[in-house]
Amino acid sequence: MKLNAHIPPTSPAVTVAHRALIATRIRRLYGHHHPRSGAIARALGDVAAGRLAAGEREWLARIEARRAEIPFEFVAADANARSDRGIDAAEHLGRAWEVCRWVSIPPVWGRFLTRLVGELSPGCCIELGTGLGVSGAHQAAALELLGRGHMTTMDNHEASKIAERGFSELGLEHRIALRFGDIDETLAPLLEQIAPIDYALLDAAHSESETVRHFDAVLPYLSDGAVVVLDDITQTSEMKRAWRTIAGRDGVSLALGLRRIGVLGISGPARRPSAESRRSAVR
Ligand SMILES: C[S@@+](CC[C@H](N)C(=O)[O-])C[C@H]1O[C@@H](n2cnc3c(N)ncnc32)[C@H](O)[C@@H]1O
Repeated sequence: MKLNAHIPPTSPAVTVAHRALIATRIRRLYGHHHPRSGAIARALGDVAAGRLAAGEREWLARIEARRAEIPFEFVAADANARSDRGIDAAEHLGRAWEVCRWVSIPPVWGRFLTRLVGELSPGCCIELGTGLGVSGAHQAAALELLGRGHMTTMDNHEASKIAERGFSELGLEHRIALRFGDIDETLAPLLEQIAPIDYALLDAAHSESETVRHFDAVLPYLSDGAVVVLDDITQTSEMKRAWRTIAGRDGVSLALGLRRIGVLGISGPARRPSAESRRSAVR
């Protein structure tokens, strides 16, 4: 099944194709020894079948309503720049819609993140790459439904302030907090402060070297049985190579590629990658 990169990720056709793909991959988890393979399989099974609990359905509707507001906030935040560039308001809004559509996780994968976090019930969570707050809202909503857990999300772009506003409008500010700044500076002190990490979404830089570097930085701080999700693992050849490198790291006992999304299960005491494996990762 080949998904055309030019079809918007929010289109119903993409949703149907991803659900069908998910259904074909679930069996790889049957009998897998990773302690959370059953939870991952249940989350995928629910997304493939379109199953959602009433509480989750309500949250997803609220998050989709929030998603629809973001382009307007984006335009409002950028109003001065627009008039400087002489762009007309309608054109600006059109561009903002496009940006939001491509930057944020599409609904079908947002639903998966909500279901996955709901099944895993993690205590300590991180997200690299807040963007406009759509993926963060999906995960934080699951924590809110569980009544436990907290996520710290990291970004260095001004637009992530829109995300922060969204979290508080949704009433999720006690479940998710933005740590503003470059991940190369904010990640290490954060990990020291909050580890062990039970769940992580890596969706910041999309170069091979940065993606591998971010994973390697997080790996030693993951709990036994932790789950890590990567977005856009097949977006470019660099991302494909990053995924292969990461999937082969010591401590990764489960690596499930779902075309766009990759899910990793961590087992045993996590180890810092050797200098040699770090060098091969960035060749
Ligand atoms: C694809 S977007 C994240 C989308 C978001 N996870 C969602 O689906 O709603 C990637 C984000 O990572 C941020 N980013 C990339 N490299 C970064 C870095 N080195 N430090 C902090 N943020 C970074 C960008 O500013 C951008 O907002």
